[in-house]
Amino acid sequence: MSHDLISSRSPLSLNVLFSVLITMVMSMPALLGGEAAMNNVSVRYLADLRLWALDTQRTSYVMGLNERNELQSLYWGEKLPSDHDLSAAHSRPEHASFDSSETMTNLEYPGWGGRYYNEPSLKVTLAGGVRDAVLKYASHEIHGDSLEIRLKDIQYDLFVKLTYKVFPKEDMIRKQAEIENRTPQLVSVESAQSGVWYVPQGEGYWLTYLTGRWAGETQLIREPINPGKKLLESRRGNTSHQLNPWFAIDERGEADEEHGRVWWGALGWSGNWKLAVEDTPAAHQVRVTGGYNDFDFSWPLQPGESLSTPPYYGGFSNQGFGEASRLLHRFERDEILPDHGHPRVRPVLYNSWEATEFNVDEAGQKALAEKAAKIGVELFVMDDGWFGQRHNDHAGLGDWYVNRQKFPNGLQPLISYVNGLGMDFGLWFEPEMVNPDSDLYRKHPDWVMNFPGRPRSEARNQLVLNLARDDVKEYIFSALNKMLSENNIQYIKWDMNRHFGEPGWPEAPLAEQKEIWVKYVRNVYEIIDRLRAKHPNLEIESCSGGGGRVDLGILERVNEVWTSDNTEAFDRLRIQEGFSFAYTSKIMSAWVTDVPNMNGRSTPLKFRFLVAMQGALGVGANLNKWSPEDFALATQMVSYYKSIRATVQEGDLYRLSSPRQGELTANEYVSAEGQQAVMFAFLHSQQFLRPAATIHLRGLDENARYRIKTIDDKLIAAPGFGPTQGVSGSFLMHHGLNLSLRGDYDSTLVILERTK
Ligand code: GLA
Repeated sequence: MSHDLISSRSPLSLNVLFSVLITMVMSMPALLGGEAAMNNVSVRYLADLRLWALDTQRTSYVMGLNERNELQSLYWGEKLPSDHDLSAAHSRPEHASFDSSETMTNLEYPGWGGRYYNEPSLKVTLAGGVRDAVLKYASHEIHGDSLEIRLKDIQYDLFVKLTYKVFPKEDMIRKQAEIENRTPQLVSVESAQSGVWYVPQGEGYWLTYLTGRWAGETQLIREPINPGKKLLESRRGNTSHQLNPWFAIDERGEADEEHGRVWWGALGWSGNWKLAVEDTPAAHQVRVTGGYNDFDFSWPLQPGESLSTPPYYGGFSNQGFGEASRLLHRFERDEILPDHGHPRVRPVLYNSWEATEFNVDEAGQKALAEKAAKIGVELFVMDDGWFGQRHNDHAGLGDWYVNRQKFPNGLQPLISYVNGLGMDFGLWFEPEMVNPDSDLYRKHPDWVMNFPGRPRSEARNQLVLNLARDDVKEYIFSALNKMLSENNIQYIKWDMNRHFGEPGWPEAPLAEQKEIWVKYVRNVYEIIDRLRAKHPNLEIESCSGGGGRVDLGILERVNEVWTSDNTEAFDRLRIQEGFSFAYTSKIMSAWVTDVPNMNGRSTPLKFRFLVAMQGALGVGANLNKWSPEDFALATQMVSYYKSIRATVQEGDLYRLSSPRQGELTANEYVSAEGQQAVMFAFLHSQQFLRPAATIHLRGLDENARYRIKTIDDKLIAAPGFGPTQGVSGSFLMHHGLNLSLRGDYDSTLVILERTK
């Protein structure tokens, strides 16, 4: 449906007439002041007020056109029960000659132009050196849950198409922008953001975000938002361990797991990104602008060309961080992950890396596979070391053919053996990289990103291939496609073990060389998309030296992610907790590995299993060193896991007790239908004789009864624990459970099955 204010160039056609009719029908409930009808419609245009209302099940997002014809953000929060709450948009007045009206007004997609001083969504240089873009409403269309609004510069045929999609069930909205050059001359884009999220005007907001480092990803930070700008970003070429493109904002830092209003946002982009959190003091207005990082960014748009920005998601809940995470998790499973619509639980995997590192060969891998199969593993993944002259990290990357010393008859004998044991086979690749000591680099030294005559800085002895180049992209696609076509490989672990350095693309025209940042990522996406299309059963794990590439862009293409190279179970509790604020446990690959682990700590095998069983369980230990008791315990734990994994992976997570506070960590998962709930508890280090805190469960049906299953003797029986009748949800949530956890690194799992 099209609704043009600026004169349309297209002739009046039947289509247009039809569109106008539909637009009128869509607008009718509002025109009539009707409220009942509007509840089923997620995108509405209220023509008389020149407003758009985007409704989810529990939230409303409202934008309107002000008296200057600018698109203005008006409201985001709890669902508005009635259109009578709405009135037409009006710009905020100028504060003084120093704070213009456009700077005071919540422009939905501000161009840098006029007297606009906040973070702009768009910055361009137009023909003749004009560096001024003032965007006003041009037209809109509504298609079901989607809305398209076109803005246009006041003079030039520079358009921005804003696309909104509403996800009613998950209370989320997606924003995206496309910059269209319909002028007859070149437009140079210097900043292209996806949009802005505004929280209600006011003071006292707090920001929550995820920071980290290699082997210490997704650490949660909470801090007040003060006037000025806080930049969350990556300038490294990929998503990064250091900051993740997700944020949440609450009021006064008072929101907790159960209570408080929480607004959140996330970018779907695995390259240089930016989230600018701004508090502009004159209006007491907090806003978060997100999109491509404009650092070292430049994109020449020829006449007729357009540039689209990454998806920028936003959501709201007034039930604290717990509900915010559950909605986001549900959204990822229902709308983002490749298996959405036909979900498949993640298999239990074994990975050879920590056991053998680069010393892989047929006999060694077969021996590990046999042991892995015995404990119930379903997917056997051979990690680094199988290709080229890869004996350590000094050589071989780029040479994606099987090393014949290690595998004289290729991979097929190993894969058949693994399949014969009832497991799928997976293989590690690091497609984007090359070691200078490789056949590929000797043949194509020009294929790495570089500035002519300048050093090529190595990290882990490797250089980054310039995947923005189409020939490099085709080489990587063909190399992987060949391996997948010739072998029964069900799963790829796709790694990236360094960030960009000297990001030069000397073969490209000078004006286009900075496009490398974006084109590289688009080509990574394209390779994955093409591989998946050719090999429909293929599953992929995204890894970048651990959790360096986890975001809503890569998650449209991969089935799980490697959370962290730090597999030490106690450290993992924090990494996994931070991860859970933004990402579902279904994709959170978590391995049980040997002790003492990387930081010298030794935790019991049971503790390590229970930590890893809170995500997609894997085993990465050297099974050749395990005792019969270890095998027995592992077999039992894997079997417990299989009985609860649908709940852990697809259910609702309740963070009951945080590893950031106190001695006890507890997490509960409730299955989608509420038939099963599982609770994991971990005691870190007990003060002598101090009892572990009572754990109050959440998300149960007060009136239902639950049969309790324990895996040990850690649950202290309480009055009301009828062995046959079970325990009521009310008792479990209000009286709670007491556990006899003791000493250091004690742990338990409690499984509740609903009886009626
Ligand atoms: C990275 C990954 C590890 C492993 C090694 C192999 O560090 O995060 O899991 O695959 O590379 O070289």
